[in-house]
Amino acid sequence: MPRILVVPGPNLNLLGQREPDLYGRETLAQIDARLVTTAKARGSTLDTFQSNGEGEIVTRIQEARGKYDYLILNPAAYTHTSIAIRDAVVFAEVPCIEVHLSNVHKREPFRHTSLLADVVVGRIMGFGPRSYDLALAIALDTAV
Ligand code: DQA
Repeated sequence: MPRILVVPGPNLNLLGQREPDLYGRETLAQIDARLVTTAKARGSTLDTFQSNGEGEIVTRIQEARGKYDYLILNPAAYTHTSIAIRDAVVFAEVPCIEVHLSNVHKREPFRHTSLLADVVVGRIMGFGPRSYDLALAIALDTAV
């Protein structure tokens, strides 16, 4: 029974209102509800934690060590800047999938860098909210 933690970072609480052409019209609450339902149907438990604060995200990821089998992480803007979140992912030793709604490589050059890319299992991006569903499918199929 894999335990999965989903962590969307800053400004992702605004989904549905924020640049809908880029990020879609679904709200974070709708996405979370669907992920919880999917995980439950597969006999898994799924917790979600959204924060706009780098430190809160770092602390939540630190605390995931030994408690979760998979981390699905959208660090949002911190993807491109946060050594602290990267270090927390390394410490946690929980396999991590990096998720983005948009394809960051089709966007501004400053979004092309991920400070997490080499410490995650893999990256899923560009499929809008379905990027999370794809990451969950992988986590459910491969968590040990
Ligand atoms: C994002 C991409 C980031 O560059 C951006 O800062 C976000 C969202 C995405 O899901 O596409 O806030 O992580």
